[in-house]
Amino acid sequence: MSAGIVGGGIIGLAIAFELLERGVTDITVYDPDPARGAGLVAAGMLAPTAEANFGEEALQELMTASMRRWPGFAARVEARTGQTLGYRTEGTLLVALTGDDQAEIDRLVGYYRRAGAPIEPLTGRELREREPLLSPRVRGGAFAPGDHQVDPRLLLRALRSLPLRFAAEKIEDLAAVPHEPTIVATGASAAGLTGLPVRPVKGQLLRLRGPEPLLTHVVRGVANGRHVYLVPRSDGELVVGATEEERGEDRTVTAGGVLDLLRPAADLLPGVAELALAETLAGLRPGTPDNAPVLGRLPGGALVATGHHRNGVLLAPVTAEAIADLATRGTTGVSLAAFGATRFT
Ligand code: GLY
Repeated sequence: MSAGIVGGGIIGLAIAFELLERGVTDITVYDPDPARGAGLVAAGMLAPTAEANFGEEALQELMTASMRRWPGFAARVEARTGQTLGYRTEGTLLVALTGDDQAEIDRLVGYYRRAGAPIEPLTGRELREREPLLSPRVRGGAFAPGDHQVDPRLLLRALRSLPLRFAAEKIEDLAAVPHEPTIVATGASAAGLTGLPVRPVKGQLLRLRGPEPLLTHVVRGVANGRHVYLVPRSDGELVVGATEEERGEDRTVTAGGVLDLLRPAADLLPGVAELALAETLAGLRPGTPDNAPVLGRLPGGALVATGHHRNGVLLAPVTAEAIADLATRGTTGVSLAAFGATRFT
């Protein structure tokens, strides 16, 4: 079998990894610019609870299924590559600043509970016991113990060290790809190649740096109605994200975007103001009309895995398993009924 994967981001490379695990060794990954994918910008929240939304039950089931696979997936990637992925299991705190923010989190907590997701409401004091540098004004929130994190840059570095053939050729026509199977994983630019309604959804994100980590947990916060997430890395980096903007291919970092992130971040965690602003970034998430990915076979016969929107890192293991199963066996135990390529037609 000679596999061709179009797209060398986290999804394409995770599929390549699962193909290697199944004994497929002849794999070519086509990507003219691997640094432009969403993976290098992503924060790496593995958040089946905190990223769940009302009315997206099938997606939430897939997110939960992928979260169950993450520990094993991380261990297998680390064992095969000898590299660490920065996988951390402290969990995620949901944090509210004002009474209105608290009401929003309470509504979410009720939804998570009905969905059977693990969630534990916490008072402001209980939150500060876990994270002493949170603002004394923080009113309350919750703990999502099952929402973990990984460092997407370490994940990409590890996956790129796999024994794959990397080609910088830009694929314009799937019929011209001399491989069976051909797998399309081109993220936000998938529309041209596949005809699928995948659109870029811009996200701006900041990387701050200090001598010591300010947090142990991932924090998902609301401050005066403004949403922000804070992802601490062990080396003192704090990732602050992310805007969500419908601006086509635009990747400009704007003053307004930085303000929209720094204001709620500093409201919830005042020590943020002392950190160095090390990097500002904008990336493009691959959005679909129902916010869920497209996983399966295109009418022309190629396999496709795109449209992962806000959850590409989380959904990588289940996506890779399903697509590698389809490529090698023609069938998979992963339930893909809600994610087919023809559902928008
Ligand atoms: N999963 C977080 C984001 O897309 O910003």
